[in-house]
Amino acid sequence: MKTVIILLGLVALALGSVVPVHQHKYTTKDVDAKFVEVQRKILWLFQDVEQINTDDEYYKIGKDYDIAANIENYTNKKAVEEFLVMYKSGTMLPKYHVFTIFKENMREQAIALFHLFYYAKDFETFYKTAAFARVYLNEGLFLYTYYIAVLQRPDTHGYVLPAPYEVYPQLFANLDVLNRIYDIKMENGIVDSDSAAQYGIVKENDYFVFYANYSSAFIFNSEEQKLAYLTEDVGFNAYYYYFHSHLPFWWSSTKYGPLKERRGEVYFYFYQQLLARYYLERLTNCLGPIPQFSWYSPIKTGFYPLMTTYYTPLVQRPDLYVVHTEKNYEKVRFLDIYEKTFHQYLQEGQFTAFNKTISFFDPSAINFVGNFWQDNADLYDEEVTKKFQRSYEIVARQVLGAGPETVDKYTVMPSVLDFYQTSLRDPVFYQLYSRIMDYIIEFKEYQEPYSSQNLLFSGVEVTDIEVTKLTTFFEFYDFDASDSIFLSKEEMKSYPHTFKVRQPRLNHKSFTVNIDVKSDTACDAVVKIFIGPKYNENGFPVSLEKDWMKFYELDWFTQKLNQGQNKITRKSDDFVMFKEDSVPMTEIFKLLDQGKIPKYMSEYFYSMPNRLMLPKGTPGGYPFELFVFVYPYEAASKDLAAFEEFLPVNKPFGYPLDRPVLDASFKQPNMYFKEVQINHEGEVYPYTLNVPSYFTKPNVVPKH
Ligand SMILES: *[C@@H]1O[C@H](CO)[C@@H](O)[C@H](O)[C@H]1NC(C)=O
Ligand SMILES: *[C@@H]1O[C@H](CO)[C@@H](O)[C@H](O)[C@H]1NC(C)=O
Ligand SMILES: *[C@@H]1O[C@H](CO)[C@@H](O)[C@H](O)[C@H]1NC(C)=O
Repeated sequence: MKTVIILLGLVALALGSVVPVHQHKYTTKDVDAKFVEVQRKILWLFQDVEQINTDDEYYKIGKDYDIAANIENYTNKKAVEEFLVMYKSGTMLPKYHVFTIFKENMREQAIALFHLFYYAKDFETFYKTAAFARVYLNEGLFLYTYYIAVLQRPDTHGYVLPAPYEVYPQLFANLDVLNRIYDIKMENGIVDSDSAAQYGIVKENDYFVFYANYSSAFIFNSEEQKLAYLTEDVGFNAYYYYFHSHLPFWWSSTKYGPLKERRGEVYFYFYQQLLARYYLERLTNCLGPIPQFSWYSPIKTGFYPLMTTYYTPLVQRPDLYVVHTEKNYEKVRFLDIYEKTFHQYLQEGQFTAFNKTISFFDPSAINFVGNFWQDNADLYDEEVTKKFQRSYEIVARQVLGAGPETVDKYTVMPSVLDFYQTSLRDPVFYQLYSRIMDYIIEFKEYQEPYSSQNLLFSGVEVTDIEVTKLTTFFEFYDFDASDSIFLSKEEMKSYPHTFKVRQPRLNHKSFTVNIDVKSDTACDAVVKIFIGPKYNENGFPVSLEKDWMKFYELDWFTQKLNQGQNKITRKSDDFVMFKEDSVPMTEIFKLLDQGKIPKYMSEYFYSMPNRLMLPKGTPGGYPFELFVFVYPYEAASKDLAAFEEFLPVNKPFGYPLDRPVLDASFKQPNMYFKEVQINHEGEVYPYTLNVPSYFTKPNVVPKH
């Protein structure tokens, strides 16, 4: 008997050593020489942003670039003049200071700089302006603004941007990882591989790998830390950063055209989905619903980020933190009044201010309501909003972040809530947004639920769904953290990329959803797939009426139905709401040499990583509910046609789960609910993958 056990142990160890490292799966597209040239220029400015390379092209261009002398080259002279007044006064945020968009004076500078970038009349002017900013302005200010400008300028649309964790690894890796990277850089490589392995450092090929744990409950004993593998996932945090960069709250959407009428709706849909996804992860970790909080009672959930910027560490908030103290009286009063104002308007059934009247009975009022909670530039109009409005989100982030009041106008001790790159790490983030969503859902109660008639797709019946096995697992994922180090003059010639952070990350095996649909006639349909809870945390069945907002949209697609039986097969790899994680920049540069770029990174890099579509299963299988809905396809109106490839634009986002539900109406033949189980294979806790027995053996990549 004994020998058998030992043998099993050996097998387990051997299996342990074959935990795969994530391989990017993607297709490329060909680009011409001009594209390659511009793309390289865009990327070069991101290299080692805390350092200036005086031999580099951008330095030569940026150092002597004179904005005032080139004012003719900007389409909005007023914007240039505004920036110049700011710049010449010498009072802009100096280098070597934390930049956060949530501080008013820094935000004003970012907006002024953004205008300068945005109104440059051609790419050459934009590039020169960016080079100037790279040389002279604060690093964080430059990075933030440049990233968004590349996304927003029509002439740089479709160019590839580096993942935010490659550009600024400090905001994605814990302090211990960075310290180990600095050690190896200073030691000029590994001195003794056995002792390095004890530090989780190994050399593979021509780079160093730093195994990294998530901040664990060993460090601060909070059950919320069970979710760290999700909330600290670099792809998950990058996703949130992309969301902001695409539609920064301070930027008016008139510049986007037709989606203007949907901005507040996008806001609601994004956070509702994010919270639904997070809730599912809580369920399988036995955590139950997102806790609520009061501004007047101690905030139960503390948070201890183990992170630092170059200048100060990130703020740690203890458990039972009291928000309502003298320093915050005024802010809490504001938050409270903002909430009550909204309630009051709800009770009146309409909103009136600044020459605007919005009836809450009108479904399109969601646009206003979303804008109200985001306090974005579309709420009234840019000028009014700027002058009279104060943002609920920003003030809430400030008080919940628990940072000290600083004296100097530019000294900030930031919390994770001060950056889009790190916000998702703090459990209180979800508590805050769940609170905001609850207010919006109260507004949604004004909407007439969809009736059976609205939802019925006459003549179409979903007769069966079959889903292949759903399995999650942890795999290693490497991200390039080389930009966190400082380079010697010699190294700057080649920008070595030799430091990789390796973390176990959640993934799932590819699966297939087979849908059988019977149709009386040939027609065009839209098929949607959602996943939601089957039972609540206490094991009771979930009712759609109560929990419609906890369903997470996995996929939608248009489908031609033939008369009679149709067999639809949909692979998880093709689910449109998701994408592959970003390819490292070193690989992009290699692809550029061949005149190629990864297709998805140029077209829809802002989606959630495909890896994260399913919540972690349990070894015995955790039950969830799959919901498939088939409804008639109607072509989008002309002005929205361009978006049709990405979004089903002619229905509310999240349709039919975009508003309160009547259970009775959700029993249509063109709907199908099915219980599915998600299993988890391999190690259940990611930290067990970070012990030397796993990484001192060579990795063999098995097929998944
Ligand atoms: C404007 O840009 C063009 C190239 O785009 C350049 O030749 C010219 O010198 C710039 N400056 C002015 C003042 O036009
Ligand atoms: C990760 O955490 C485990 C458990 O605390 C520990 O044994 C291991 O050494 C850690 N690994 C690294 C690379 O920090
Ligand atoms: C108020 O709105 C109406 C209609 O939108 C517009 O005609 C009018 O000029 C506005 N008044 C002010 C003072 O902005």
